[in-house]
Amino acid sequence: GLSSAAALSRRPTTTGAKLRSAVPLPPTFTVPLPLPSVLRPVSTVDGADRYEITQRETVLEILPGVKTPLWTYNGTFPGPTIEARRDRPVIVTHHNELPVPTVVHLHGGRTPPESDGYPTDLVLPDGWQDPMPGMHGMHGMQMPAMSDPRAVVTRQTRDYTFPMAQRPAMLWYHDHRMDFTAPAIWRGLAGLHIIRDDAEESLGLPAGPRELPLAIMDRAFDDHGNLAYPALDPTLREQPGVHEPYLAGVLGDVILVNGAPWPVHEVDAARYRLRFLNTSNARHYELEAVTYDGRRLDLVQIGADQGLLAAPVTHQSLPMAPAERYDVVADFSGVPVGSLVTIVNRLGSGRTHDVMAFRVARRAADDSRVPTVLSNDLPSWNRSDAARVRDFSFRAGRMNGGHGWLIGGQPFNPTRTDVTVGLGDVEVWRLIADVQHPVHLHLAGFRVLSRGGKPPLPHDAGLKDTISLQPGESAEIITCFDGYRGRYLFHCHNAEHEDMGMMANIEIV
Ligand code: C2O
Ligand code: CU
Repeated sequence: GLSSAAALSRRPTTTGAKLRSAVPLPPTFTVPLPLPSVLRPVSTVDGADRYEITQRETVLEILPGVKTPLWTYNGTFPGPTIEARRDRPVIVTHHNELPVPTVVHLHGGRTPPESDGYPTDLVLPDGWQDPMPGMHGMHGMQMPAMSDPRAVVTRQTRDYTFPMAQRPAMLWYHDHRMDFTAPAIWRGLAGLHIIRDDAEESLGLPAGPRELPLAIMDRAFDDHGNLAYPALDPTLREQPGVHEPYLAGVLGDVILVNGAPWPVHEVDAARYRLRFLNTSNARHYELEAVTYDGRRLDLVQIGADQGLLAAPVTHQSLPMAPAERYDVVADFSGVPVGSLVTIVNRLGSGRTHDVMAFRVARRAADDSRVPTVLSNDLPSWNRSDAARVRDFSFRAGRMNGGHGWLIGGQPFNPTRTDVTVGLGDVEVWRLIADVQHPVHLHLAGFRVLSRGGKPPLPHDAGLKDTISLQPGESAEIITCFDGYRGRYLFHCHNAEHEDMGMMANIEIV
């Protein structure tokens, strides 16, 4: 394996790794859009639904005619979707049959700390010996996670309990192992988890086949069809030619939606609820819906990361950072039958400009609606409620003799408490960034109070769990740390930044 010194000398000093695929890519808008299968509970105990997920290697055909080995939840990519009801607990038993330790985090979940997927609460594979020779995280150490005295490590299996006492929203679950989250998500460890309730269902929003979860991500494929990743970890099957720097984050040249390249989906000429999620490691998007004659369709935002807005917000284009979700209604009724509406990324170029397309197939009746009032249970915290105001910088800096990403000048350390907050306290956090950082807070949804000293932008509306900070930008968020006492995280959700130190501990007392 690589020595620490070799790993460190490869520490990147320049921009991100833009990977180029070495296999033939399909034409855009030819592969049908897959919809992730919905997982059935294996049992119901005391009003809680129990699910089983096995994490295992699977070979799938993502690009037509190309076999790609993936790390999967239950053999699919993305993993199976969990459909939950508000206040009805979900227990997921995860079995780890992968060759590496894993950790499961439900992103956006109001989850007790023991089930929140702390990065050192490892589920070890059968026969795992620690430390494994040759395993290096971005801290350049062997299994740094093993140095956390509070870690709860299990072998092969673990039950995660999610109370679901929270607003209906589209959450997602993904790997969260210390130092190795980015390559694990890249290799496939992500799935959707949707919470619903009666109030949302009574609104008359587009539903059933007219509600589409759309998980957007970029990837790259090497000449054997493997996912390319500039990994230091030899178990990730390093490929020649991909040892590029990845300080800024890894970008692929293939855009996948629900695991398919530039897919196409046939729709009625009617309203659709499009539930966008960016599961990319580092790529930002600015989405537009463009008709065949170059017209932009309105994207009527009805929800944010943590569920419905108070009232709809209409956008012409929608910026989306890694881990953000935007719940949007698009109306295809004015689009000629037989024509395409393409979803494009204004920030992309060449093939990364295209995302997916809808082919309007037929006229159809539509009794859906977008009410002018969507929800009235959004928290209304005020500055004057805040027990504290805190400042956090998100910047590049030195880490273990190399380059990393720091919060408040420090790289992540599981044995250090960075912030202690009182249970139930409202706090205002002022965040400042050197370059783009999508900052994510576990447990607590927040509202954006200001951005760059000005009022929040239209897409900052609602209850969020991830805010996209722009280069040099400061923003203020307000939140309340209620629900559970214990250890939680906040971090950059550029997955490479996260692995390279940009994460910190919150202790709720
Ligand atoms: Cu989506 Cu701490 O993660
Ligand atoms: Cu970052």
